[in-house]
Amino acid sequence: MPVMREVRSTRGAFIDFAPEATSLEIRGFGLRYGDKPALNDLTLRVPRHRVTAFIGPSGCGKSTLLRALNRLHDLNEEVVQAGEIRLEGQDIHAPEVAVAELRRRVGMVFQAPNPFPMSIYDNVAFGLRLQGGLRKRRRDDIVEWALRSAALWDEVKDRLRASAWSLSGGQQQRLVIARTLAVGPEVLLLDEPASALDPISTLKVEELIRNLKASLTLVLVTHNMQQAARVSDYTAFLQDGELVEYAPTDTLFTNPRLARTENYITGRMA
Ligand SMILES: Nc1ncnc2c1ncn2[C@@H]1O[C@H](COP(=O)(O)OP(=O)(O)O)[C@@H](O)[C@H]1O
Ligand SMILES: [Mg+2]
Repeated sequence: MPVMREVRSTRGAFIDFAPEATSLEIRGFGLRYGDKPALNDLTLRVPRHRVTAFIGPSGCGKSTLLRALNRLHDLNEEVVQAGEIRLEGQDIHAPEVAVAELRRRVGMVFQAPNPFPMSIYDNVAFGLRLQGGLRKRRRDDIVEWALRSAALWDEVKDRLRASAWSLSGGQQQRLVIARTLAVGPEVLLLDEPASALDPISTLKVEELIRNLKASLTLVLVTHNMQQAARVSDYTAFLQDGELVEYAPTDTLFTNPRLARTENYITGRMA
C-alpha cells in the first residue's frame, strides 16, 4: 500500500487518500436545484482502476453527484452548479467536450434495470450501431466480448434474438452493464445497481464489479454499507450534501476518523 496523505479540506472533510493515478477529479463542486442546495463544495479524487463507493443517508446527494459526473443535469434548467469536474485532467464542461462522447467514456447504470424493448443482441449492439462504421462480423465479436465481460454470455448465447425482457431482473442488469461496456467506457457509474435484485443476483453483480476494475474505473453508489465494504477500495461518506470522510474502505469502516462517520457506520451496521 502506498503512503496515505491526510488532508482536511476547507470544509473539514477528512480525506485519507492514496496518491494513485486519478481518473475523475472533483474540485469545489456544488449543485443546487433552484434555491435548494444539494451538494456543497465537494473535493475528491476518484482513482483509476479502483472501485470507489459513495455512501450516506437517503437524500444526502449521492445520485446528484453521480449524475453530475456524466452531465445528466444538463437539461434540467433548475440546476445551478459550481466548481469543477475533470476526467483525465480535462474539464468535462469545457466547450470542446461533446456530451455524447463524455457519456460514452463515462457510462451510467441505474437502480432499476432498463433494457430497451428489443432483443438481447440488439440491446448490446445499440450504441455500436449509433456510432456506425462496423461490419457485422466485428460487431458480433464486440457483442460477445461485452456479454462475456458482464458475466452473461453463457446464459444468453443460445438466445441472443430473444427479447431482453425475457431475462430475469439480475440478468437484465448485467445486460445493461454489457450494453454500457460495448461502447468502451473508461468509467462506469453505478447508482444502487443491485438494490432491486435478489441476494444471489446481487452477489453476481458485486463479483462483476470487482472483476471489471481490471479494465475500468468504477463508482458505486450504495445505501448498503456491507456492499460498499465487500466491493469497494475507497469509500466516500456524504451527509447533507457534504463530503464528511473519504478513505480506503477498510480504514473508513474499521477506523473512521470523524465522529459523524462513526455514528453513521455504527448506527447502520449494528
Ligand atoms: N430533480 C430534482 N429536483 C429537485 N430536487 C432534487 C432532485 N433530485 C434530487 N433532489 C433533492 O436533492 C437532494 C439529494 O438527492 P439525491 O441526490 O437523490 O440523494 P441520494 O441519492 O443520496 O438519496 C434531496 O434533498 C433530493 O430531494
Ligand atoms: Mg439516490
